[in-house]
Amino acid sequence: MQAQPTETPLTGQLTVVGLGLIGASFAKAARELGLCREVVGVDSNAGTCRTALQCAVADRTTSSLQEGCAGADVILLAVPVLTAGGILQQLAGLPEARTAVISDVGSVKGVFERAARQAFGELPAGLVPGHPIAGSERSGVTAANTGLFRQHKVILTPHAGSSTQAVTLITQLWQRMGADVEHMSVQQHDRVLAATSHLPHLLAFGLVDSLARRDENLDIFRYAAGGFRDFTRIAASDPQMWHDIFLSNRDAVLQQLDALTDDLATLRQAMEQGDGRYLMGVFTRARVAREHFSTILAQRAYMQTMDKELIFVAQPGGSANGTIRVPGDKSISHRTIMLGSLAKGTTEVDGFLEGEDALATIQAFRDMGVVIEGPVEGRVVIHGVGLHGLQPPPGPIYVGNSGTTMRLLSGILAGQAFDTTLTGDASLSKRPMNRVAQPLRDMGAVIETGPEGRPPLTIRGGQSLTGMHYDMPMASAQVKSCLLLAGLYAAGSTSVSEPAPTRDHSERMLQGFGYPVEVHGSVAKLESGHQLSATRIEVPADISSAAFFLVAASIAENADVTLEHVGINPTRTGVIDILKLMGADISIERVRVIGGEPVADLRVRSAQLKGIEIPEALVPLAIDEFPVLFIAAACAEGRTILRGAEELRVKECDRIEVMADGLRTLGVQVETLPDGIIIEGGPMGGGEVWAHGDHRIAMSFSVASLRASQPIRIHGSQHVATSFPNFLQLCARLGMRVSAEVGQ
Ligand code: S3P
Repeated sequence: MQAQPTETPLTGQLTVVGLGLIGASFAKAARELGLCREVVGVDSNAGTCRTALQCAVADRTTSSLQEGCAGADVILLAVPVLTAGGILQQLAGLPEARTAVISDVGSVKGVFERAARQAFGELPAGLVPGHPIAGSERSGVTAANTGLFRQHKVILTPHAGSSTQAVTLITQLWQRMGADVEHMSVQQHDRVLAATSHLPHLLAFGLVDSLARRDENLDIFRYAAGGFRDFTRIAASDPQMWHDIFLSNRDAVLQQLDALTDDLATLRQAMEQGDGRYLMGVFTRARVAREHFSTILAQRAYMQTMDKELIFVAQPGGSANGTIRVPGDKSISHRTIMLGSLAKGTTEVDGFLEGEDALATIQAFRDMGVVIEGPVEGRVVIHGVGLHGLQPPPGPIYVGNSGTTMRLLSGILAGQAFDTTLTGDASLSKRPMNRVAQPLRDMGAVIETGPEGRPPLTIRGGQSLTGMHYDMPMASAQVKSCLLLAGLYAAGSTSVSEPAPTRDHSERMLQGFGYPVEVHGSVAKLESGHQLSATRIEVPADISSAAFFLVAASIAENADVTLEHVGINPTRTGVIDILKLMGADISIERVRVIGGEPVADLRVRSAQLKGIEIPEALVPLAIDEFPVLFIAAACAEGRTILRGAEELRVKECDRIEVMADGLRTLGVQVETLPDGIIIEGGPMGGGEVWAHGDHRIAMSFSVASLRASQPIRIHGSQHVATSFPNFLQLCARLGMRVSAEVGQ
C-alpha cells in the first residue's frame, strides 16, 4: 500500500545505497512523506532488494550502483563505515558524482572524509557527510521505520567547500523526517561520539567478555539483576559494525579510554585507602550529571526543556485558609553552600531551598571540587575544602537565572589562583555586573565582562587583592556580600558602607562560621587571615516566598493563613511593615532565634487594605516583595505611591514596567515613575499577562486572582521553580485555584 505523500517534494531522485535499518528507514520515510519524486534503493544483496520492494521502502531497487545512481539528485550512502571507501571510489567514476548531493550516515566522520578525499581528489561541493544518532535493537530492511529519526539528533559535518544548496537540502530532508539537525566539525563529531557512544560500547563489550571468560558456564549471569542488564544492553550490538567503528575512530576513542583509565586508577586507589570522601565526590557529581542527562533524554533537547514556556492559569473564586511552611530562604541557602565550601570541616544544613537558583550554587561548587551531599528533603552536607581548597572547574560555570550566585561567587573567584568564567541564562545575561566588577577591580581583581558590563564574566586567577573601604552607591546586599567575600582573600581589611540597611545574612553567617566581622552602623568590616569552621545551619522559611501568602490572605475574603517558621530577620521584614501600614491583620507568633536568625509563625487574616505612601527607608527591606505588594495596592482603597525603588528595574526583569503592564491589563490604573509607581486601588478583571520569565511576577499575578473577576493567564511562568518549586501545590492546599499549562 502506497502512503499518501504529505509534503511537497524537495528533490527529484533519491538513491539510497545500503538498505540496512538506517538506509531503509530513510528511504521509506522520504517516500511516504513525498520528499522526492522517486526513491531508488541499491543493495548488493538481491534478496534485500526484493524485500525492500515488498516493504514499500523504495519505488525500484537494483544491485548495481551505476544503475541506481543514474540520474540521481541525492545519493545517500548507508553502508558500514569501512565499506564506504570502496563505494566512494566507484561513485567517483560516475557522472552523478559531480552533479548530485552526496551524504552518508556513518558513525565516524574523519574516516569518511579521508576516504572521500582519496576517491574524489578534492571534496565535491555536493558532499555533506552526516550521522543520525538513532538506532534500534532490530536491524535489516524489514525493521525499516519511518519514525526512526523523529526527535533524534542528526549531526551534519559539511566541509569548507560544501555548497549552501547541498547543506540546505540535506538539512531539510532530515528535518522533514522530524530530526533535530546540528552542524559540527568532523573532529568535534568524532571526539563527542568517542566519549558518549564508542567508549560505553567498548566498556560493555569488554565487561561482558571479561566476566564470561572467568566463568566458562556463564553461570554468574544467572545472578545478574537490572543493573547488569542496563549496563550491558549495548554489548548485544552488531560486532562487525563496532569492529569498524573502533578501527575508524581509533585515536579519539583511545584518548577517551586513557582519560577514563586514569580516573579509574584514582578511584581504585581511593577505595584501597578507604577514602570515602573521594568516593562520595565522584558519586554525588555523577548522580547530578546523570539526572541532568535524564532530563535531556526524557525531553529531547535540554535547551528546549528549559525554554519551554509555562503559562499559569489563575482562576477567580479561590480562598486562602490553612497552615503551611514555605520553602527555605533563598539568600541564606546560597550562603550556606558558599561558606560551607570554604570552611574547614563538614557543614550540615537543614531546610535548604531545593530551587533552581540554590541548586546552581551547589553545582558551581561541585564543579570546583567540593563534595556536597544532597539535597534530600532540605538536608545538605558540605565537605568544606577550606579557604584555599577550591579547584579549577572543568569549564565555564553556568549559574542559570541566579544573580545572587553570579555576584557573590565573583567575589570568591577574584581571590582564587585559577581563571573562571561565569555564564547565565538569557535573563541573567542582561543584568548589570559592573556593580561588582568595578569595586573588585579596585581591589586588584582582573575581570572581563560582556558588553556594557553584562555577563559572561571572566575572572582571572592569581591576582593579589588588597582590602579597601567601599561606599556602595546603591543599597545592595549582593554587592556588599561580594566584596566581603573577596575581603577573605585581600590583604588587610575590607569594609563596605551601605546607603540604607540591606539583608545582613552574609555578616551573620560569617560570624556563625567563626569568622570575625565588625558591624558599626552602616559599615561592615572584616580582615583576611582567619578561618571559617564548619557548623550546623537550619535555614528558615523564606519571607520572600511567604510574602505571596501574606498578601493572598490579606486580600481574600474570610481568609486565615498561618505561615510557619518564617525568617523575620529585621533586614527582611519590610513587607510586614508595609502591609501593616496598609492595614493588614498580621500577627507574629512564637518568635525564636534559630542558628543566629530570628524565626516566627505569621498569622494573617483578611483585612480592608488602604493605599499609602511607602516610606523610602523600607524599600531595601522589601526589595523582592514589591511585585506582590503592587497587587496588595491594587486591592487597597485609594492610592499607593512608591518612590526610591529604581533597583526594581534591574531585577530578573524591569519589575516596574512589567507589573504596570499586567496591572493595566487587569483594568488597574497605574502610573510608572523612573524610580517607582503610583497605583490606584480598584476592581480587577482578568486577561493575558506576561511574567517575562520572572518568578516573582508570575506568583504575584497568581495571587491577584483572589480578587479578579475573570481568569488570569500568566505567560512566561517557567522560572517559578528558581525560588519556589512547590508554589502551585501550596496554593492548592490553601484553596487558591492556580494551575500550569505548557506553552508553545
Ligand atoms: C539578594 C539581594 C537582593 C535581592 C536578591 C537576593 C541576596 O539583591 O533582590 O533576590 O541574597 O543578597 P540586590 O543586592 O541586588 O538588592
